[in-house]
Amino acid sequence: MKLLKKLLKWSKITVITLLLVLAFAYLVIHILSQQRIQKKYSYTDVAINIPSDSLSIAKGKHLYKIRSCQDCHGEKGEGRLFMDNKMLMQLTAPNLTKGNGGIVDFKTADWLRVLRHGVDKNGRSLYMMPSHEVTNLTNEDLANLIAYCNQLEPVATSQEKLHSIGPIGRLLMVMNQVTVLPAEKIDHSATHTEKLEEKTGVAYGQYLSSGCQGCHRPDMKGGGPLAPGYPPVPDITGDGNVGNWNEQAFIATIRNGKTPEGKELNNNYMPWKSIGHFTDEELKSIFMYLQQLSDKH
Ligand code: HEC
Ligand code: HEC
Repeated sequence: MKLLKKLLKWSKITVITLLLVLAFAYLVIHILSQQRIQKKYSYTDVAINIPSDSLSIAKGKHLYKIRSCQDCHGEKGEGRLFMDNKMLMQLTAPNLTKGNGGIVDFKTADWLRVLRHGVDKNGRSLYMMPSHEVTNLTNEDLANLIAYCNQLEPVATSQEKLHSIGPIGRLLMVMNQVTVLPAEKIDHSATHTEKLEEKTGVAYGQYLSSGCQGCHRPDMKGGGPLAPGYPPVPDITGDGNVGNWNEQAFIATIRNGKTPEGKELNNNYMPWKSIGHFTDEELKSIFMYLQQLSDKH
């Protein structure tokens, strides 16, 4: 009896200690993430002119696709629930049209704030909006993209605008596993190229492939799964399978979601359907860029 009592006492102490440790860990995570969430960014921007001719708008439409805007904001810019998980985050990718529930009164300065700097009206970082992958667009491309967004057919939506991060989301943020706060990854005083003259080749491939980095990592060497239950992300440089492919095989892989080795790519993990919006010419440049990223040289 005495022993049982003693055991009970000790297990109670263990449980209480554990709870205290967890509460303390949570407090630390909360404080660390809150500091980063609250950080205000300031910048000065050079104004850019937004065109309104149909050729520029058509180029903007292509950019909207290849820069993955539609994956989160929808094909018509109508927006959608990005994630609804209390532990991770509850977040809406907003309606980008001028319809009800959309962004009305968005000026060029607002587009620059979001796309170049990844911050909200108060200067704090947005959540999950990949501005760090868009910020380096040339002024020409950015202006065309904005021109396209500005003339999106108004769509009325009644979705709630969710914007909160849960404890697991904060943990991932503190562990730097996911880019939750794009503004942290941006050089806010960077100057930007007016336009690229050379629209083919290695440098252009690098420019086009900034959207691959979030998953394949900045060096394109891949790494562990992006979330529990996801497949590992392969090395797509010349040192990986891609190094054994030719241009046609690379293009076919992106278009059909199947690699020369016979592997079916799951669109939920590797978004080959939206990447398929790149033209053949653009994919050739990306292939050239990836091929020469090799330790063998
Ligand atoms: C991975 C998903 C994702 C992609 C890709 C994406 N966005 Fe977003 N975007 C979001 C989310 C989520 C928010 C809301 C962020 C928040 O509430 O902090 C957002 C916010 C915005 C806003 C701010 C709207 C407002 O109400 O202030 C604009 C504008 C925007 N995105 C435009 C774009 C454009 C243009 C592209 C393509 C270059 C793009 N987004 C690509 C997820 C995405
Ligand atoms: C949302 C994350 C994500 C993005 C963005 C992404 N990929 Fe992938 N990619 C993956 C994952 C995960 C796999 C592995 C899929 C599997 O194992 O089924 C993969 C596989 C591949 C493969 C097959 C490699 C092999 O050895 O079999 C190629 C090629 C590829 N990606 C190219 C690209 C290119 C080029 C881009 C940018 C234009 C890109 N990916 C963007 C996640 C992504």
